[in-house]
Amino acid sequence: MGLFSATLNTMEDLYLDQLQDIYDAEQRLTKALPQMAKAAHSPELKRAFETHLKETEGQIKRLERCFDLFGKKPKSKTCDAMKGLISEGETVVNATGDPDVKDAALIAAAQRVEHYEIAGYGCLRQFAMRCGQGNAAELLQETLDEEEKTDRLLTEIAESSVNVKAAS
Ligand SMILES: [Fe+2]
Repeated sequence: MGLFSATLNTMEDLYLDQLQDIYDAEQRLTKALPQMAKAAHSPELKRAFETHLKETEGQIKRLERCFDLFGKKPKSKTCDAMKGLISEGETVVNATGDPDVKDAALIAAAQRVEHYEIAGYGCLRQFAMRCGQGNAAELLQETLDEEEKTDRLLTEIAESSVNVKAAS
């Protein structure tokens, strides 16, 4: 969410505001994920980031469809939270040290992003429903499912291999 004040009189104002916020967040993420994939040492983790990059591109398309269904042009509003999360991720990308420990740190950064998005899409889906945007709510649910699946996959990679190697 941005620092600048918004006018929020109606649920429609709120829905559009949040749509613009997450649209910005996803676009920022498409620029960060290739760096994270490149920095990952574990092939499994690299693949997870690459897969999520493709998914994120699809999620941007879904958001554009949501704008369209709402009769609005797609527009971004700076998402300061995602800027911060990505900046923390960049610190890990540029870190030196043990590759396995670095992978564990990359997963920690990526899961913070996923949890932020899960919260965002959960709210957005509910706002869409309240605004009579049932079709948009379904699209947002599809994205929410992808974010949750990615979060679970990252946990699996961490627990089955990366954290084990990082601790040895
Ligand atoms: Fe996403």
